[in-house]
Amino acid sequence: MRKNIVAGNWKMNLDYEQGLSLFSEIVNMVKDEVRGDQQVIICSPFIHLASLSKLSAGVTNVAVGAQNINEAASGAYTGEISASQVKSTGSEYVILGHSERRAYYGETDSLLAKKVDAALANGLKPIFCIGETKDERESGSYYDVIKTQLSAGLFHLDAEAFAAIVLAYEPVWAIGTGLTASPEQAQEVHAFIRKTLAEQYGQAVADQTSILYGGSANPANAESLFSQPDIDGGLIGGASLKSRDFLQIINVFNG
Ligand code: PGA
Repeated sequence: MRKNIVAGNWKMNLDYEQGLSLFSEIVNMVKDEVRGDQQVIICSPFIHLASLSKLSAGVTNVAVGAQNINEAASGAYTGEISASQVKSTGSEYVILGHSERRAYYGETDSLLAKKVDAALANGLKPIFCIGETKDERESGSYYDVIKTQLSAGLFHLDAEAFAAIVLAYEPVWAIGTGLTASPEQAQEVHAFIRKTLAEQYGQAVADQTSILYGGSANPANAESLFSQPDIDGGLIGGASLKSRDFLQIINVFNG
């Protein structure tokens, strides 16, 4: 069956020492508690990746990921980081298609398709983010938006390659705003995503894919969100920066 995943997205927060110390706290608290079918992933700034991977070596339930990669293999791209460089730090995952990168750095579906390919070619598992803006929700076009993001970013993959993908439904209007999608709103979209996957790849692949919810998830709302049948965990921004809040969210699956 698919994995339950709680992933932290630190975004552009925490200096080097602060990141190591938060991560050590998390590893120490989850290493004995987290069940075999559950995965904790920390997506840190690039500066932390190699050190975090060393700190979690041998702790199978805790993995490390980046928040972006360049689509090219290597070369004259000043300031950019490739998939193979991220992989060489010991990282296993990379967030791709986060709405902040789509909105502030102009990342299009076709660019994201190339980044997905670069990640998979180097053995990194994408945590691929999709979700509608407030206007798209209010106009009722959000199903079309999500279907387009899925097909343009991912559906060039065959079923075997797609098996490495983790999806995150993150309504843009809920990210960092304190406005969370209700469990019913989130479940409705997660079920739609799974149905779309089943149409593309068959029911078995759809049933194996972890679909996370993201957008102002916190200790108070995580349980009602994660108990929905098609919500397999969360991508957590703000609340992943506080060890106590993040651990409470992880513990929803241990209750
Ligand atoms: P948030 O961020 O939990 O702070 O809303 C989620 C995300 O951007 O992944």
